[in-house]
Amino acid sequence: MFSSAAKVLHLFGCRGARSTSSRFRAARVDAIQVPTSDFHERTSSLVIRGDDENRPVVRNFSASARASQHTVLQLDGTQSQNATIEVQDDGRILEVTWRDNTHSRYHGIWLRHNCQCSDCKQAFSGQSLIEVSEIDPSQLKISNAKLIDDMLEVEWDEGQTVHHGKVPIHLLHENCYSEEARRRRKDESRIKQLHGGVIPRHCYHDIVKSDTAMLSWLQSINDYGLAVVTDIPLHEGAVVEFAELVSPVQFGIYGKTYDIKYNPEPINIAYSSVPLGFHTDYIYLEAPLGVHLLHCLRFDPEVKGGESIFVDAFLVAEELREKHPDHFETLVRVPATFQKIHVDRDFPVYMKFQTPTITVNHEKEIVAVRWGPYFEAPLQVAEEDVLPYYQAQHVFGKLLQQSETRLKYRLQPGECVTFNNRRLLHGREGFTLNGGMRFFKGCYLNIDEVKSKTQLLMITEGTGKLAKRVGNHCFL
Ligand SMILES: [Fe+2]
Ligand SMILES: [Zn+2]
Repeated sequence: MFSSAAKVLHLFGCRGARSTSSRFRAARVDAIQVPTSDFHERTSSLVIRGDDENRPVVRNFSASARASQHTVLQLDGTQSQNATIEVQDDGRILEVTWRDNTHSRYHGIWLRHNCQCSDCKQAFSGQSLIEVSEIDPSQLKISNAKLIDDMLEVEWDEGQTVHHGKVPIHLLHENCYSEEARRRRKDESRIKQLHGGVIPRHCYHDIVKSDTAMLSWLQSINDYGLAVVTDIPLHEGAVVEFAELVSPVQFGIYGKTYDIKYNPEPINIAYSSVPLGFHTDYIYLEAPLGVHLLHCLRFDPEVKGGESIFVDAFLVAEELREKHPDHFETLVRVPATFQKIHVDRDFPVYMKFQTPTITVNHEKEIVAVRWGPYFEAPLQVAEEDVLPYYQAQHVFGKLLQQSETRLKYRLQPGECVTFNNRRLLHGREGFTLNGGMRFFKGCYLNIDEVKSKTQLLMITEGTGKLAKRVGNHCFL
């Protein structure tokens, strides 16, 4: 991903590390420009910005290194940019003190795992060549460490062998794992709620022309879960052509794309005219499809009803946790079973997937939600969990209906609603055609591809901050 030359790698690291001086006003290290063809060489430069300045200033990175446990790093220019290192705990820990007097601590085994020397990291592929599990951490010590230019050079005593290697200082800064640094990253990736229910709008013509406009659209999806794209050409292939500006579309059991059009003999209730309650599409898959694009080709004025509805399942799940912690805990613990069984079709499917409605990580943060009453198979849980499950589901369903994140929108021809199917639940109101037509063309993008594109554009076009959590079970 970063294999071409001179990509900008942003530092997420250690501004939030333990600070020992609130009065110390440091220039802020925003990015390191790394010519990645010689990633291991000492040719990096830092983009440095004062806390109250907006324009980055590029300064060269050079070192005045004392080859000792206490090495001082300095930058060219009038400002002195210092980092010092100290080996502690009998070689188990390396502590870096950054120039703003914050500290980061790294275990010797962590540094060994991240050694970037040519024996440990393959040039070009950037992949690791070491099996860290073969190293016994109880035998490993840092026997020497020094800073030279932008590189931490380390000698590890591994018991039977000694390894000389190196770790770039920007890697340390980006990956600082102090409590403060991890908290700050979480703050950065926290999702947002729409204000006043106004859906962000972006123009197709801008997006096809400009990466900045592309980022703006993707960031709306990333921040709020959805956005409307206007002015998409009115032909049936347009939505896929548009989606594939991001990545190849994701196939579902209905193919690469599908039509939402009234059918008197529907193979899916979406193809009828009945109301559709909130749901996650493809809920019966291990990984439900990602960003859903629904392009409106026709929605005649005589059609009564048929508005699209949305609700933010992540935010409502947080509301459930706050108001009804017992029900929240039940939906985290007791699994539902989702299914799609349809054998009387060209490609018969028999899919079942059992998983809880809400998934949390080791820090009890929500990392996935799925909701799809239409696709629920008979509950298969212990007898004592049956009633709590249905009670919790009843309460969560009510919160979804009453949520202030609930939106209703009538798509117009040429508009395409684009939303994260892992976070936003969707549905539609029932309709009567009255001689008119309602015709949408839909497709999906893989959520990991969308997040990747968003993050890349945030680095090249935006602030370099972290993309938000997208509901794909990722803990970041
Ligand atoms: Fe749907
Ligand atoms: Zn190495």
